Amino acid sequence: MTTLGVNIDHIATLRQARGGREPDPIHAAVMAELAGADGITAHLREDRRHIQDRDIYILKQTVSTSLNLEMASTAEMVKIAVDVLPHMVTLVPENREELTTEGGLAVREREKDLAKTVETLLNNNILVSLFINPEINDIKSARRIGATHVELHTGYYSNAKGSALVDELDRLRDCAKAAHTLGLHINAGHGLNYLNVSAVAEIPYMEELNIGHSIIARAALTGMEIAVRDMKALL
Ligand code: PXP
Repeated sequence: MTTLGVNIDHIATLRQARGGREPDPIHAAVMAELAGADGITAHLREDRRHIQDRDIYILKQTVSTSLNLEMASTAEMVKIAVDVLPHMVTLVPENREELTTEGGLAVREREKDLAKTVETLLNNNILVSLFINPEINDIKSARRIGATHVELHTGYYSNAKGSALVDELDRLRDCAKAAHTLGLHINAGHGLNYLNVSAVAEIPYMEELNIGHSIIARAALTGMEIAVRDMKALL
């Protein structure tokens, strides 16, 4: 069975829009777990545009499934991870101007620096996943530097149409197989939604899918009716 990691970053984005306390991503994590989420994922970005340090520390105390901390491979983030001790760290590339994570890690170009981060995290009993493009050479590189997991970037698949979609799905399938053969665990995520998720969930060896935007977008709309009714009842 493929499990679901719910990414709660966008709840924090909404909170930061007003700089107040609502909606609290901690509450969203509790509700996601009550609804059956197998894990909670949060990305502490260097610019703190959504998730804040306080969120990560409280999530560590309150998440009862598993906490996956997405972060860049920087000294500051490694220090926080070693202090918080999440179940897993997913290392992602980070560009300040991007709207969301745009591509996978340049693992082959950064093997030396990433290997150091991976080693520190593993020495602290934190599982380490690398968010990579679905490329066999990147999978081999992830294995070389000691990662326990890879998260395959599904953004290319999500954006593809027609025969390109079939090609992208094949690429994900081939990469999952190769990663499994090398002894890596396989997760995937980015751009997955209610229409395109099933085919990815069915890929052999796929363990966990990390999904954020489509779930939070649907929650906003499915919650609209009751939220309006509750307000109307007060007037
Ligand atoms: N996995 C990684 C590494 C990500 O950076 C993101 C986006 O924060 C996701 C999964 C979730 O992507 P989406 O919000 O498109 O579902």
